Order: sequence, then structure tokens, then C-alpha cells
Amino acid sequence: MLETEQPLSILVTGGAGQVGLELLAAKWPDHITLHAPARSELDLGNPSAIERLFSSRAYAAVINSGAYTAVDQAENEVAAAYSANALGPALLADATRAAGIPLIQVSTDYVFDGAHVGEYNEDEAVQPLGVYGASKLAGEMAVLRGNPRSAVLRTAWVVSQHRTNFVKTMLRLATERHTLRVVNDQHGNPTSARDIAEALKTITLRMIEDEAAPRGIFHFVNAGATTWAGLAREVLALSEAHGGPTAKVENITTAEFPTLASRPANSRLATQRIQREYGVVPRPWQSAVYEIVDQLSAKE
Ligand SMILES: NC(=O)c1ccc[n+]([C@@H]2O[C@H](COP(=O)([O-])OP(=O)(O)OC[C@H]3O[C@@H](n4cnc5c(N)ncnc54)[C@H](OP(=O)(O)O)[C@@H]3O)[C@@H](O)[C@H]2O)c1
Repeated sequence: MLETEQPLSILVTGGAGQVGLELLAAKWPDHITLHAPARSELDLGNPSAIERLFSSRAYAAVINSGAYTAVDQAENEVAAAYSANALGPALLADATRAAGIPLIQVSTDYVFDGAHVGEYNEDEAVQPLGVYGASKLAGEMAVLRGNPRSAVLRTAWVVSQHRTNFVKTMLRLATERHTLRVVNDQHGNPTSARDIAEALKTITLRMIEDEAAPRGIFHFVNAGATTWAGLAREVLALSEAHGGPTAKVENITTAEFPTLASRPANSRLATQRIQREYGVVPRPWQSAVYEIVDQLSAKE
């Protein structure tokens, strides 16, 4: 730590999630510490829990990576989804504005309906198809309205070595079946939780240092796009190359794999704004997925 640098604490919500774990694992400057209370201590929908935290210590910023992320279950658990994804961000926006500190909110490609041709820019019209996307959109609006010093990082198709995600599901299913039937008509950007954490770190540190740092909505995803079937093929080929399980992938349509919540057919996000304003340049999704399969293989 340089002598001139004061120790600073950043509140991280959802510290046990894919992105939260990568935020905690990232290398931060020596004068920064992360405080990631367990969910039992910080329920996003609980105003007194948030008040208690803010009165117990001074934070330099908040990164809200906690969220209700069960897309299908949200259709039947509307109140729980809105409590975590809309009320939580609104409470954090009030608390951070009162403290005069930046709030960095993580959001989703599911705020879009997928009807757009090409990549979505940050100012494209939003139209969520389900409860999860609608609750996350309400959270975005609460943050942007509630704290002028805020940024919303929309990301997509999050994968990592942690918890449950599409990469881990494909690897598990490959140990059980010879052929996997996977949707091939939804297009998006697989994105590493580790890379999201790095992007969040860049934004957060700049926003702490510089009151005039760029704010508003930013899209961040790994470079390049594919379908779920394309991602499955890549994962299984990498797994096979690592001596792990593999399977054949059969393309199916969304109509052949009905889910409770509808998903956008195209949710590819354009990342020029974060590249231009924060110098964050995403690596190709294949490189990110390689790293994850490699990490998971090493654990075997
Ligand atoms: N996963 C994706 O594909 C995806 C795609 C686009 C955007 N995103 C966004 O990216 C962010 C991070 O997602 P992720 O994949 O890291 O999610 P995740 O792995 O599901 O983790 C979410 C974390 O939030 C916590 N949480 C849930 N409800 C909470 C509540 N009411 N109060 C406090 N904490 C709560 C969870 O606690 P438990 O540990 O108790 O479950 C978990 O630690 C979220 O904002 C999500 O909406 C995710």
C-alpha cells in the first residue's frame, strides 16, 4: 500500500455466487478489502440488514452481484425474484446515494426480447420475456434512478468452475448419456464469471477514484457468439481433449425443449461502450471456456 492510500472497503453481495466468488478471488490493490457478508447476514430484500451493514462500517463502493437467478422458478416465485432483484437494488441505491459512494449493479441480457437483428447496444429498447428479466430490469431502473453515481453491467450466459452452470451441466450429462439434445436456435455470448469480475473491478476502482467516471449502462460479454449447442460442442471437445467425458450433440429447437420462462432467441450484446470508456477488451468466449474446462479437469 502506498502511504497516501487510505484502506478502503467494498461491499460485495452474492459473494457465494459465480461472479461473487471470482470477485473475491481476484487480485485487488493492497489498500482495498472486500466485505462479502453471507446471505444470512445480508438478505437483499431486507431493509434493516442493509441499514445495519451501512451503520457498522464505511464503504467506498458496493458491487451488487447477488441476485435471484433461477430463471424458470422465478415464474412461480415472483415475490422472491422481485425482492432480491428489484427491492434489493433499490435499497442499495438509497444507501449508497446517502453515503455518497458508487453502486455497481450486475444485470442481464434477459432484459431484451431477442427480436432485434444483430448485437444489442446499451440503448436498445428493453422488453423482458419473463419474471426474472422483468425483475432485473426493475433493479436496473431503481439503481440508475436512485444513485446518480451508479453503473449497470449487463452480462450473459455466465459460466465458471463454480456452482451450477451450463458448462458443468454438459460435463455431468456427458457422463450419463452418449447423445445430448441441445437448443441451437438461441444466440448469445458465453461469458466467464472471472472476466466479469475483472470488468467489475476496473469499473469500481475508477468510480471510487474519479467522481466523473463514466456511468450508466455497460454491456460486458466475452467476444464472439454461439448457440447453446455450439457451446456444448466446444465444452465436450475440450473435455475429450483433457481425457474427460464427452458426448455427441444433437441440435434441437427451442420448441422441442419447452421451459417455464421464454428466453430471447438473440441476446448478443455489443461491448464497444465498455471497451471505449473503460478500456475493457473481452477475450473470445472459446478461450474463457477452455480455462474453465481446464480448471474443472484439474479438480478431477
Ligand atoms: N448466471 C447467468 O447465466 C447470468 C446471466 C446474465 C446475468 N447474470 C447476472 O449476473 C449476476 C451474478 O450471477 P451469478 O451467475 O453469479 O449468480 P449465482 O451463482 O446464482 O449467485 C447469486 C448469488 O446471490 C445470492 N442471493 C440470491 N438471493 C439473494 C438474496 N435475496 N439476498 C442476498 N443474496 C442472494 C445467492 O445466494 P445463495 O448462495 O444462497 O444461493 C448467490 O450467492 C446476477 O446479477 C445475475 O442476474 C447471470
